Amino acid sequence: MQLPDYKEARKRNKNYQRIEYVIDKKLKDKYQGKTYYIRTYGCQMNEHDTENIKAILEQLGLKEIDNMNKADIVLLNTCSIRENAHNKAFGMLGRLKHLKEERKDLIVGLCGCMAQETGVIEEILKNYPWVNFVFGTHNMYNLPEILDEAITTKKQQIEVFSKEGDLIEDIPVKRENKFKAYVNIIYGCDKFCTYCIVPFTRGGERSRKKEDILKEIEKLVQDGYKEVTLLGQNVNAYGKDIYDDYGLGELLEDVAKTKIPRIRFMTSHPWDFTSKMVDVIAKYDNIMPAIHLPVQSGSDRILKLMGRRYTKEKYLKLFKEIREKVKGCTISTDIIVGFPNETEEDFEETIDLVNICKFDNAFTFIYSPRENTPAAKLKDNVTIEEKEKRLYKLNEIVNGYFKENNEKLVGETVKVLTEGESAKKDNYYGYTDTNKLINFTGKKLQPGDLVNVKVTEAKTWSLDGVLDE
Ligand code: 5AD
Ligand code: SF4
Repeated sequence: MQLPDYKEARKRNKNYQRIEYVIDKKLKDKYQGKTYYIRTYGCQMNEHDTENIKAILEQLGLKEIDNMNKADIVLLNTCSIRENAHNKAFGMLGRLKHLKEERKDLIVGLCGCMAQETGVIEEILKNYPWVNFVFGTHNMYNLPEILDEAITTKKQQIEVFSKEGDLIEDIPVKRENKFKAYVNIIYGCDKFCTYCIVPFTRGGERSRKKEDILKEIEKLVQDGYKEVTLLGQNVNAYGKDIYDDYGLGELLEDVAKTKIPRIRFMTSHPWDFTSKMVDVIAKYDNIMPAIHLPVQSGSDRILKLMGRRYTKEKYLKLFKEIREKVKGCTISTDIIVGFPNETEEDFEETIDLVNICKFDNAFTFIYSPRENTPAAKLKDNVTIEEKEKRLYKLNEIVNGYFKENNEKLVGETVKVLTEGESAKKDNYYGYTDTNKLINFTGKKLQPGDLVNVKVTEAKTWSLDGVLDE
């Protein structure tokens, strides 16, 4: 048994090695005939981890099914970012408890960010003795051994490394989509924003070698993929831990040269965003003009308390630089309201920033205290009613801008990657270069087709259009 420890999780180890994943031959196909079901919560990083986990399980001989009630193994890949993510996972564990009472041989596992939280593990040890196995974000590659041990010994297995170990390459992957792919470029985060649990659950920043990334993308191009999303908790820190002169700007340039039709990347931290990166994004047509640039707050006082390392003015300067250099670029953001002791004036500063930036999309949240983070120790004098009122007001304003920005596109022709056909015949949906959802009519299209679509109508969260032949 290995339990997570926050003191260890806080440490940053720069002496990691690059190790290639291999499956233990004794375990390969050992569980042929058995089935698994996996439920994923949270961000794209977790979704992509699930693609790795599925491939590992399939090396063991397991088959995926989409009916949880019939699966031999059920795995929850969890998220810690806010309390409601926790509640969802614990709610699901409640359902699984009943299922397990009906089917004693059901194997239940939990992984992902919640597995890295000491409080969650204490809770599992105390109240969930029937959960068969738990593994953390740093030892996903141990899944075959952990699962095998849980099945053969019938004893609860909790194997969670507190901090990152080596960087594992060549983990197999079962991609869900045949033309859009996630590619990790950097793991972990060293920013330690005071509200955020990620630096503890995902460990220190570790960049993959550029050769490994480019090899993976070149293979995707050969396989007919049309879009890659470069993933990291803070992609703009890419390379800092392993190279002197090679960062996200240089990597984006090399990825652009693979000729993959569309490149996206997320998430960006404004502090690490350089002019060089902006220039590269502007230079290459296959780097999509859509940037997710979380601001979190418009108040300098709150930004400081959050440990964000920039001021409202600095954020606006970067925002303006991107808008000026990258033609037609859309910028989306994340905003937290109700940070401890946020005053009405602080909140008004956020509204002011939103009115200046008129974001194309914004994910808005009420601050949620997370275990072991510095902000969770702050006393808070803002009532939940007040926080909800602020969120409501903010949402009204951001939604207005989504619609206003979309309206500007009516009559324009936009490039769309077709994702699929909707229930109605000859009706399709896809995403524009600028990452807007568009529903459109057209004929005989396949998922993965890159087409021109004329925008006919604007809604708050999507566009309507017709194929422009
Ligand atoms: N409470 C509320 N929102 C949070 N986020 C991260 N941590 C918290 C928290 N403790 C939000 C941030 C981040 C997004 C992924 O989630 O806005 O950018
Ligand atoms: Fe969390 Fe800040 Fe790192 Fe984003 S940059 S993952 S908000 S610590």
